[in-house]
Amino acid sequence: MNVHTADVLTAEEGLAAIQAQADKFDSDDATDLALQNTLLTPRFYTTDFDELDAIDVSSVREDWDKLLGQMRSDPNKGHFKKNEDWDAIDWEGMDPALKLEFLDFLVSSCTAEFSGCVLYKEMKRRGTNKDICELFAFMSRDEARHAGFINDALREAGVSVNLGFLTKKKKYTYFRPKFIYYATYLSEKIGYARYITIFRHLEANPEHRFHPIFKWFKEWCNDEFSHGEAFALLMRTDPKLTESWNNRLWIKFFLTAVYSTMWVRDHARPAFHEALGVDVEWYDQEVFKKTSTISRQVFPLELDIDHPRWKPTLRRLEKAMSDGEKAAKTGGPAGMIGKAWANLRGAAAFVSLLTIPSKPNTPPENVRLEPAY
Ligand SMILES: [Fe+2]
Ligand SMILES: [Fe+2]
Repeated sequence: MNVHTADVLTAEEGLAAIQAQADKFDSDDATDLALQNTLLTPRFYTTDFDELDAIDVSSVREDWDKLLGQMRSDPNKGHFKKNEDWDAIDWEGMDPALKLEFLDFLVSSCTAEFSGCVLYKEMKRRGTNKDICELFAFMSRDEARHAGFINDALREAGVSVNLGFLTKKKKYTYFRPKFIYYATYLSEKIGYARYITIFRHLEANPEHRFHPIFKWFKEWCNDEFSHGEAFALLMRTDPKLTESWNNRLWIKFFLTAVYSTMWVRDHARPAFHEALGVDVEWYDQEVFKKTSTISRQVFPLELDIDHPRWKPTLRRLEKAMSDGEKAAKTGGPAGMIGKAWANLRGAAAFVSLLTIPSKPNTPPENVRLEPAY
């Protein structure tokens, strides 16, 4: 019997359900898109699982047990599937530019969800530490449901990402555990901020809700929020991770990289944001603001997103990236030179962002937060 991904209790069941769908239906284009490894597309990660497995959570035991209890109670079981709130979508009649960008958004979101699922599942599989294995089992279960649900939406448009194939074929990037904490903590929290900002905006402006999947974003982002909480607790088990001089630099680097990647990626989807009725710059700044506020729970610094150089430099970075892409499409020696020049300009803009002084922060005694937006 086929189980829907919304009802699975483990990531393995989720992956089997996704694979069963993919066997029936697959589209090469979407899988190819998801297979691309560029600076901007979601990546697959691997890490030193033994080091992660050795974490002792006793210093945050009380908060840990509470959070894990919440995940165990599984408030979103059965939520991520179509129901009567799922309005019919006229994919054929959709503006072609919007359709292209929206599909790109769905494919890249699906890849990102799935990349989390694979990483978390691997940790659970290799670990022996009961606390760590339980956490990663819950998180991979959630990500499998999220990825499965996006795949459901894509299938209606005649597109499906073959996630099983992706697991085998996509290149894995190795990150030391501390980099996994910084990058994954941030991507979970930024995911929360992105989804809740869209959800609240569409709640106030329902005429812009051009696809039903946005109605699911609230419960969705609550999952991401609690995943982020788990990484905040993991970071709290070792003060060096957020306090030492060189780790502070790494945190600043990851914040800058994650924020600027989001800026560039979102600006490549003008039709999508127009259909949602959001100004991309406003939306991105709003997401940065929420993410920065949340990450005060654990990071010793925040980026100065109101600095006079912040937005102009992001705009320069975005221009360099899009010029680079155009040059690459041109091809030939002129294209190569154009691409190299654009890369140089992009790198200079990124360095300039890194040199904006950050604002120091003293994280509170009590690390835990609840979704507040
Ligand atoms: Fe997710
Ligand atoms: Fe997540």
